[in-house]
Amino acid sequence: TLMNDQTPMTDAPAAKATPTLPDAQVVTAVKHYTDRLFSFRVTRPASLRFRSGEFVMIGLMGDPDPKTGKQRPLLRAYSIASPSWDEELEFYSIKVQDGPLTSKLQHVQVGDEIILRPKPVGTLVHDALLPGKRLWFFSTGTGFAPFASLLRDPETYELYDQVIVTHTCRDVAELTYGADLIESIKTDELLVELIGEENLAKLVYYPTTTREQSPKMGRITDLLKDGTVFKDLGIEDGLSAETDRAMVCGSMGLNVDIKEILESHGLEEGANSDPKHYVVEKAFVG
Ligand code: A2P
Repeated sequence: TLMNDQTPMTDAPAAKATPTLPDAQVVTAVKHYTDRLFSFRVTRPASLRFRSGEFVMIGLMGDPDPKTGKQRPLLRAYSIASPSWDEELEFYSIKVQDGPLTSKLQHVQVGDEIILRPKPVGTLVHDALLPGKRLWFFSTGTGFAPFASLLRDPETYELYDQVIVTHTCRDVAELTYGADLIESIKTDELLVELIGEENLAKLVYYPTTTREQSPKMGRITDLLKDGTVFKDLGIEDGLSAETDRAMVCGSMGLNVDIKEILESHGLEEGANSDPKHYVVEKAFVG
């Protein structure tokens, strides 16, 4: 079945097609996880510099205007899921069958072109947080993407004693992208060497599901409120503005609810220009 498709990424046959779109990049790999989720990689513009955790606008040419015949780019904000040192760019996407962009984007194949505006921005960056001891990444669904970038960046571990990434999805298959990524960080020789064994010992992965049986069930918000997370992770003192820093990326509901929890423990929202205790990616939808 399509659900939990484990087929490996297909490698690009030296993708060197001449770009025909403005800001065109060539797709180098595509992997489908469920009928709702897929990831893909594209070439990286030589001039593109970004901080792990940032997003860019990507998309495809839209359908011709019925009156004028003109085509306009159809763009959406996508977190870059690959780390800043990677030669290529990776994205993790939802598939919405009647979604203007993702109904088409889900069909991209190796060698196809997408549009990528090379202007990275975003709030999920280390510069927006004050120094701390424990870093939390709270995500639902494809909100895991910016953390896939940050988790492959050695700086993330160098700045903290512990890095805890939580991912809440409806079912187990939807956890696959994140679970595979965590596994690769711990076992891929290149990644282990790059991040460092000592740093990797700081990484804690906390996946939960809400609509299918799995080892840990429930919304992360409920598990924080009833203390389950702290009990599971052996954290005795709970959250505090002194030790804890957080980055949040997920559904609107998650953003609002986590914010309330963090603020109830005294954490304040930061920004690039005003670093504090936690940050939320507001450009993220879905
Ligand atoms: P639930 O199944 O209880 O709605 P989606 O696929 O709809 O984007 O949701 C991804 C995951 O995020 C689901 O497991 C969903 O749980 C969970 N979720 C939705 N809203 C919230 C919220 N306000 N706080 C925490 N988790 C949430």
